[in-house]
Amino acid sequence: MNILILGSGGREHAIAWHMQSSKHLSKLYIAPGNAGTASIGTNVEISPTDFPKLKKFALENNINMIVVGPEVPLVEGVYDFFKNDDSTKHIAVIGPSKEGAQLEGSKDFAKDFMNRHNIPTAQHKTITPNNIDEGYQFLESLKPPYVLKADGLAAGKGVLILDNIVDAKAMLNEMLGGMFGSAGNRVVIEEFLNGIECSVFVLTDGKSYKILPVAKDYKRIGENDSGLNTGGMGAVSPVVFADADFMTKVEERIVIPTVNGIIKENIEYKGFIFIGLIKVDEEPKVIEYNVRMGDPETEVVMPLIKSDLVDLFEGVATGTLDTKTLEIDNRFATTVMMVSGGYPGDYVSGKTISGLNNIEGSIVFHAGTKLDGEQVVTAGGRVLAITSYGQTMDEALSKSYRNINNIKFDNSYYRKDIGFDLKK
Ligand code: AMP
Ligand code: GLY
Repeated sequence: MNILILGSGGREHAIAWHMQSSKHLSKLYIAPGNAGTASIGTNVEISPTDFPKLKKFALENNINMIVVGPEVPLVEGVYDFFKNDDSTKHIAVIGPSKEGAQLEGSKDFAKDFMNRHNIPTAQHKTITPNNIDEGYQFLESLKPPYVLKADGLAAGKGVLILDNIVDAKAMLNEMLGGMFGSAGNRVVIEEFLNGIECSVFVLTDGKSYKILPVAKDYKRIGENDSGLNTGGMGAVSPVVFADADFMTKVEERIVIPTVNGIIKENIEYKGFIFIGLIKVDEEPKVIEYNVRMGDPETEVVMPLIKSDLVDLFEGVATGTLDTKTLEIDNRFATTVMMVSGGYPGDYVSGKTISGLNNIEGSIVFHAGTKLDGEQVVTAGGRVLAITSYGQTMDEALSKSYRNINNIKFDNSYYRKDIGFDLKK
């Protein structure tokens, strides 16, 4: 099978890395990819949202399957683009339809979906410039802090948590006034949930599902979860508090109703559902849905999947996922992200990375890297994810940290406390 992966981060490198051992893989292409994916397959200079160019490439290169990494092409309808064209409808696209992608593309759609299917989540109200007074009233009915979310995609920046009502009302106005562009044309106000978060990944063919290893990511730039939000500074899997009792609740109250909701509403969905969960007094509630894998969670989830990934994806594409087995490694996997100094603010790219051949007992997934001739250089805020296995989380983490010491680039930074809140 010839496969094209869309995206250029650590997530896509981890997917490519897993696929290289598949007995079903012939040729692997990544658009646009990075220096890491270039060592596994062929990088192709096409943007994941340039659908006409992707079509031309897919036809010329006999692509049988497209695996979509990031959310933007899904929300823009890449699935439908290929399925609705007679010349490309034979190509399997791993990802939801445009309608299904609304679970991530519109927080209002996602909240209504959860309410329709009795899926536990924070109380909410959706506000537009026409009912802003209802927004003030709803805020007054809540206890602080206050959660405001831009309805549309805002590159992970569209959520504000405010401590007092004066600021909350002011920010509601700002958001509706265009602070996040059109993503904030509607704002979802939510009750604040207090608990510990984890990420549950589900693979579905739109009929049946498999639950992948649960992961926890560390979004803040600073130690002890302080400072600005990032795309994710590290991850661990499995997550000790997501034990069997908790996961039974997650499956019965969240995963099954979500998949059944997709079926009942006739939504075409052949891909990943990423459920951002919070555990509040032992009870799971949904913080958000994403319609793709997480990054850096993929860099710990993929290494724990022992089954042939392409075979699982074939099950997704053909609606036979229930006939496939998902085998999971019983070790821990951890990943620590090395980032460019300054990230998530301004940073300088093009820095030479050394030590990549000096790695023992870890897997280095490339996120923001590119090749400059033969040399690997930095090309983004998040640069490398250093993943390791261990019989314990600590053993895995110590391997990642040991190998990080061997990798050098100017002004690099990483968090030294990944997993800190799971060690108590
Ligand atoms: P989201 O983009 O919806 O994942 O939100 C980003 C982050 O904001 C989440 O990972 C949570 O840490 C936090 N958050 C979102 N919604 C809530 C909520 N209702 N209560 C508490 N924290 C929240
Ligand atoms: N790591 C969180 C995300 O991918 O959205």
